[in-house]
Formats: sequence, structure tokens, C-alpha cells
Amino acid sequence: MNNTKIKTLLESLNPINDVIVKGWIKTTRNSKTFSFIEVNDGTSPKNLQVIVDSCIENYEDVKKLTTGSSVSIKGKLVQSKGKGQNWELISESIEIINFAPAEYPLQKKQHTDEFLRTIAHIRPRSTKYGSIFRIRSELSYLIHKFFKERGFYYLHSPIITCSDCEGAGELFKITSFDLNDLPIVDGKIDYSSDFFGKQSYLTVSGQLSAEIFAMALNKVYTFGPTFRAENSNTPKHLAEFWMIEPEMAFCDLNDNMSLAEEFLKYLAINIMNECSDDLDCLSKHIDSNMNDFIKNIFLSNFVRVEYKDAVKILNASKRKFEFEINFGKDLQTEHERFLTEEYFKAGVIVYNYPKSIKPFYMRLNEDNETVAAMDVLLPRVGEIIGGSQREERLDLLEKRMDECGLKKENYWWYLDLRKYGSVPHSGFGMGFERILMTLTGVSNIRDVMPFPRTPKNLEF
Ligand code: 4AD
Ligand code: MG
Repeated sequence: MNNTKIKTLLESLNPINDVIVKGWIKTTRNSKTFSFIEVNDGTSPKNLQVIVDSCIENYEDVKKLTTGSSVSIKGKLVQSKGKGQNWELISESIEIINFAPAEYPLQKKQHTDEFLRTIAHIRPRSTKYGSIFRIRSELSYLIHKFFKERGFYYLHSPIITCSDCEGAGELFKITSFDLNDLPIVDGKIDYSSDFFGKQSYLTVSGQLSAEIFAMALNKVYTFGPTFRAENSNTPKHLAEFWMIEPEMAFCDLNDNMSLAEEFLKYLAINIMNECSDDLDCLSKHIDSNMNDFIKNIFLSNFVRVEYKDAVKILNASKRKFEFEINFGKDLQTEHERFLTEEYFKAGVIVYNYPKSIKPFYMRLNEDNETVAAMDVLLPRVGEIIGGSQREERLDLLEKRMDECGLKKENYWWYLDLRKYGSVPHSGFGMGFERILMTLTGVSNIRDVMPFPRTPKNLEF
């Protein structure tokens, strides 16, 4: 038995005196001689039960304590004889820091997620959301740990940019112009007098910066906020979300797929170990099968299937899809979910997509028609990761940029990477909120983001 175990055992036999607990009242139950108070300090979904004897000095005030009030309690921590908790605090004194008035919005009853979104400043105090946001924090740490353990360097890619990495035109434009008094020359806005002297945007991806640094430091990753002005009011799109983008030199599509699978499994398995109390709480509030679901998906091998075969499978299925699918069309969430939830019943990596539906930087395959792209699909959320091997051959990259209508002079630095010591390299992007949804069972992305930004919604 190690020292900590012995210590815990001894403590469990003896009360611990002079403990001070500071937190917020969840509930109270008063009788003539005693009050039972459930207190939570924000570090666990479990409350601490406090027993207050009526002989304490300010008992009349204690009896009036309301949900949401803040207190500092001194007392003796003892093993609990009651069910559902290991410890309870016998209070000796209670300092009432602040009385929350009766209109405190988080009363005992269950509130809907929709209502809680309207009080996002109070929402993290609820048991369920406390768990979600503690898991969010732990998962961030695990992401850094995963890459650190594998020799990756953490890169801070810029948030303000002048290039559209994904070429989808979903950019938020930024400017310091007075929008009511724009400098117009020949019917067009003259950006040369804007803050940066050119059009500028919020980044949609840190990938291009990550490629630059992979050519210098070998293996890097970014983890930062990303912005997309896509008008998709769906349960899996945010206008501001966080993305993790690893980029590796000397790495092909197969290595890239393996890293993506290893990454997802590492996060799932470690979060189950590190956040078991919070996950237990969520399985009570959201989905009691979460534990089995996570084990089923993340303890099994992912399936790898070429895009063209995935399309065949979808067409051969008797399923009536809302969106038609054939070679050259992008997979919709309904197709992704069919493949992963029903057909393979596993995590699925679809690769070698038609070049026509993918960005300019992906590596052209020998068939001249597809590129070395890969998307990882998971049950419920569908696409969780998008990535590719990058085009490292200068002539082919230039040709592709021409096809996509990109101005090569704007990407001179990106082309330079292909002139000086170009090597095969690959990477991917994982939506942080999407993996959080998968691991918590939350079905709307707005509920794993502290302050979600979506079309027509910018509060807090
Ligand atoms: O597939 P995407 O667009 O890929 C890229 O941005 C590449 N530059 C990544 C790379 O190769 N380095 O986005 C990557 C992931 C998606 O798979 C999805 O999980 C998430 O980012 N994502 C979103 N998450 C929330 N809201 C949105 N609007 C999202 N758009 C993409
Ligand atoms: Mg994608």
C-alpha cells in the first residue's frame, strides 16, 4: 500500500478538524434543530453535505440561505453514514458572503438547454454544465499532452490573416474603416488605406502557417480559435470554434490517418480515466449508454474506405437520403452518419476524394482525378476530422492554384516551401467542440461552447 492510500485510510477513520469550505449553496433543508446544506465549490459535480446545528450564532440567517448564495464554512469533516456521499461537514461556523435573491435563475428544477443558453453567464453553475466545462478544460490539457509525448511543437498561428486557406469564401472580413464612409475608387472599396493596406480576415484555419513550421521544426500543431461565416444554423456548426491542426514533415496520407485514429482514441480513453465523476454525472443527465458507446467506438479499429467505394455503398443501400450522392458530390451529414452508425458501426476514415470538392493544397493522386484527402467520421457528429497529404510538387501545386483561380503572387511564401527542401507532408484539423460533443453525448454544439456564436446570435 502506498503512502497516499495509507493516508486516505487513516483519514477515513478520523474526523478532520478545522476544515474551511468556500462555495455556493445548491439546496437547503431546515428543521428546528438542524439544517442540511448542500454546498458546491465548482470543482466537482458532487456536493458536500453540511450539517448545521441550531446552536450556532447566526442560525436564523443560515435558515434563510437560498440557492446560489455564497458561503464560507468552518467545521469538522467526518465519514458520512448517509447514502450517496463519503464525507460530510459538521459545521462550527458559517460566514454568509452573499445572499442570492429568490429570483436566482437556477432553481432546483431541471431547465431546458435552450433556456440555459439564454443565461450563459449562469449556465456553468448548473451541475450538468459544470461537468461539461470541466471536461472541456481537461480535454484541452490532454491534447497538449498527446502532442508533447510525440515530439510535436506547439505553434501559435495568426488569427488575423489575408488568405482563405479553405477557399470556401466563408471569411469574416475585418477592417478599421468607418463603414458609413468607405473610400471608394472606381466603384470598389480601396483597401490600400485600410489598417493593413489590404483586405484582411479572421482565420478559417491555421494550416498554412503550420505547413511553414513543419518544414522547419518537423512536427507541429496549432490549437486555437477559428472563424467561419458559413450560414449554417445546424447543431454542429459554430461561427467561432476551436481547431487542433497537427502538421508533419515526411508523412504521407497513411501515417496521417494513423495519427488521427491514435489521437481520437487517446483522448477518449484518457478522458474516461481523468473525468469519471463528470462523465458519470453526464450519463445521468444526457445518456446512460455513454460509457458503452465510447468504449465500442474507441476501443475498436476504425474502418478505412475510399470515397468512391463509400459512394457505392451509399447508393447500394436502400436508404432514401435527402441529398443525392454520386461521384463528385460531397458527403452530407446524413451520408456520414449512415456509414459510421449503420453500415460499418465503427469510426470510419473516408479517403481519396475528388479534387473538385477539396481545397487547392491537397496532393493530386495518380488518377489525376482524386486527391489524398481524408475525413474521419464518427457516429452522431459525422465529420470530426478533415485532413490530407499536401501537394509538395511545385509544378502541380501551381497548376492546381490556377485551376482554383487563386492568385499565385498572394501565396509566394507557400510556393517557396516547395522550392526549398520540399518534402511529402500531411496534417489534419479536428474540431474541438465536435470531439467534446462525441465524448460528452451533448447533441448541440452550442452546449459545449462557453459562449457560442452562431448566425444572428452574439450574446455575452
Ligand atoms: O475540414 P475542415 O474545413 O479542414 C480544415 O480546415 C483543414 N485546413 C484542416 C487541416 O488539414 N489542417 O475543418 C476541420 C474540422 C472539421 O472536420 C470539423 O470537425 C471542424 O473542423 N469544423 C467545425 N466545427 C464547428 N463549427 C464549424 N463551423 C466547423 N467547420 C469545421
Ligand atoms: Mg471538412
